[in-house]
Amino acid sequence: MGRIRGVCSAMALFVQRVLIGRDEIARRVDEVGRQISMDLERQSSELERRGEPVGPVVLVPVLTGALVFVSDLIRSMPVSMSIRPVTLSSYPGAATTSQGVTVQGGVPTDLRGARVLVVDDILDSGRTLGLLRRLIEAQQPQSVGIAVLLTKLKPSGRAEEVRVEYSCFEIGDEFVVGYGLDYDGLYRNLPYVAAMGEAPVAG
Ligand code: IMP
Ligand code: MG
Repeated sequence: MGRIRGVCSAMALFVQRVLIGRDEIARRVDEVGRQISMDLERQSSELERRGEPVGPVVLVPVLTGALVFVSDLIRSMPVSMSIRPVTLSSYPGAATTSQGVTVQGGVPTDLRGARVLVVDDILDSGRTLGLLRRLIEAQQPQSVGIAVLLTKLKPSGRAEEVRVEYSCFEIGDEFVVGYGLDYDGLYRNLPYVAAMGEAPVAG
């Protein structure tokens, strides 16, 4: 395996292939941020035209994976918003397949009437975003949208089909790290998205 420039050898050990480079991510995230903002703007005008109240925009990033994505995304969104992170986990430790979703921090409970945008790193089995959408919709927000950096294509279908309004990139069904995505808590700080090499031995 060749070395990846700018990454120390320990980090490059299992990172095999850069799938989406830093500049490509920056361009696309900016584009999607602007698109979301335009859609929110259009929604506000439509609500005003109908004489209905315009709910506040609340972003709900799913930590820890959405940390990098949301911090770039919001800087391409010139929209008045608040940010209410939620901590969910479906890949405890060194697992690379979904283990069932756990809510570790409370889901925000005051979303009634809000225009909610859930932001996550990747749509994989669909369990995480499916659960979150249900928990948020139960609070009767004015609207709910989901934005993800990556959609993993699943030729054999997802455990749960979830509607995702905004997706920056589609990737094949393989395990990836970087730009917020981790393997066993590591590699989140890589500035690009890369496929893992051979399965690492935990510990
Ligand atoms: P889902 O519930 O299976 O859709 O999984 C969603 C969560 O699993 C994401 O928010 C990620 O944190 C994590 N995940 C899924 N696929 C990957 C991957 O390829 N690399 C790193 N984390 C992943
Ligand atoms: Mg996640």
